[in-house]
Amino acid sequence: MYMRNRLTIGLFGFGCVGSGLYQVLNQSTLLNANIKRIVVKDPNKSRSLPDENFSFDKNVILNDPEINVVVELIDDADAAFNIVTEAFKKGKYVVSANKKLIAEHLDELLDLAKQSNVSFLYEASACGSIPVIRNLEEYYNNDSLSGIEGICNGTSNYILTRLNNELKSFDEILLDAQEAGFAESDPTLDIDGFDSKYKLQILILHSFGLKTKPEEVLNIGIRHIKTKDILFAKEKGLRLRLISYAKKVEDRIVAFVAPLFVKENSFAYDINYEFNGVSIEALFSDKQVFTGKGAGSFPTASAVLSDVSALQFDYKYEYKKLDSLNVELADAIEIKAFVSVSDSRNLDKLQFTTVEEEYASPEYSYRVGTLRIDQLTHDFYRNNPDLFIAFYHDADVKIVSNIDKEELIQEEMS
Ligand code: HSE
Repeated sequence: MYMRNRLTIGLFGFGCVGSGLYQVLNQSTLLNANIKRIVVKDPNKSRSLPDENFSFDKNVILNDPEINVVVELIDDADAAFNIVTEAFKKGKYVVSANKKLIAEHLDELLDLAKQSNVSFLYEASACGSIPVIRNLEEYYNNDSLSGIEGICNGTSNYILTRLNNELKSFDEILLDAQEAGFAESDPTLDIDGFDSKYKLQILILHSFGLKTKPEEVLNIGIRHIKTKDILFAKEKGLRLRLISYAKKVEDRIVAFVAPLFVKENSFAYDINYEFNGVSIEALFSDKQVFTGKGAGSFPTASAVLSDVSALQFDYKYEYKKLDSLNVELADAIEIKAFVSVSDSRNLDKLQFTTVEEEYASPEYSYRVGTLRIDQLTHDFYRNNPDLFIAFYHDADVKIVSNIDKEELIQEEMS
């Protein structure tokens, strides 16, 4: 029989996921674990447990030698960074669900966890209850993966689903999503694609062994969508989905977050409301799709529980692909795109390489064709609220900068 570590947990945060974890841990009979201390920020907030269960000083957990696992489930990525790095230095294992923390500090966190020889697990950080990170680490532990894409943000998927079904206003539906409790406290992270990008960065790390910085990966969101864009999609039998996309093209990784038009045969077409889905494409297995709840108290807590359970056996991510796969981010690509505007003069803000469809009227115009996406930055997207930009899911993606570079090299040699 395997020896299981006895886990004494210090829990940071008792919000949606923290309180969910408290309940699922209490219901789990297989775990050799207990929560010894809970540290929260706000002493005045009313909670489902009596006040004596809570402390407000992080050192109550960090300085307790009996606590060997820190579970970090707070909203604030900067405070989380301090907690997690101090926990590493004290030799404690860490479980986190904080995608922003991980995406912004990948290098430092991985180095520190390694130096301290502790496990750092974060299954709940990408796609909530869907067991994707450990699958990428363990099952796809070789170089056969060719692409991964997902609906990784429940809030934006909820909004897109309801826009499609009800043709109501974006703001009205965003409010409902926030009230339902799965939007981030700052909805910008959800609707502008940041949350989807942080999750994509984590998936890219475990799929292709590539560390990325948030500013290197394009994210455009759904905030500027117009009802007429939904009608355009419906007329063509398409649906809009905010997709976190990464594809290996030779030794380059094409990566972005953007609204995509998906066809009925796409994995994403029937993933509705707050559900998430991930499609993994590998050389020999072809496509595999996981769907499930990507947000919410118990679903997210179930992924945290699985990490805690793995720590009983000292499980660590090995990041094997970091040392073995030699890939880089593609810096410029060309893809089939749709741009719509209310003021037709704004259509020329983006240069299409080719145009295959165009429509103009005084209050709504659009253009469809191929676009080099290095013209787009997040700031361009934010500063042009009249432009709704979406790509086509089934379109070929062409890496243009690498071709240019090769042509240049050949020209220089000839
Ligand atoms: N705001 C996130 C979402 C929560 O909507 O998916 C889960 O990460």
